[in-house]
Amino acid sequence: MFKPLLPILALTLAAPAFADPDASEGEANFKKCKSCHSIIAPDGTEIQKGGKTGPNLWGVVGRAVGSAPDFKYGDGILAANAKGVVWDEAQIVTYLADPAAWVKAATGNAAAKSKMTFKLPKTEDAEDMAAYLATLK
Ligand code: HEC
Repeated sequence: MFKPLLPILALTLAAPAFADPDASEGEANFKKCKSCHSIIAPDGTEIQKGGKTGPNLWGVVGRAVGSAPDFKYGDGILAANAKGVVWDEAQIVTYLADPAAWVKAATGNAAAKSKMTFKLPKTEDAEDMAAYLATLK
């Protein structure tokens, strides 16, 4: 009676519901971000040579949102900063899926806008990207 259940159980255990985030995939995918973002370490090392339309993403995981020095952020993300929101990987995954929706949710203001319009809609890609950004500190 119980025997037929065992193979099913084994299969369930062998197949994890979610893939582990892969930082190296995120690094490879950063080419999508480079037109607007660079990653420059505090000692000036250029880890990703890119544009300046968006802020330097060095150390972004763990820092207050909208807090890179010398970058002119939009009012929406600055309002989230004023609320004390700090980037963690989960917030970055949500942000990358839809930055405008994230800013509205984080500020509680349906009229809040994001200066970043680019989206990374696939959750797996966004998770890999967040894992990559978390290594840069
Ligand atoms: C077309 C330009 C553009 C592209 C492409 C782009 N971004 Fe952005 N990004 C911006 C701008 C502009 C901001 C500032 C948003 C604001 O002020 O509202 C920003 C902000 C961010 C922030 C918040 C940083 C902070 O200091 O709070 C993160 C994280 C981010 N981008 C990640 C990414 C990643 C990862 C990619 C690639 C998958 C990407 N962006 C692609 C323009 C871009």
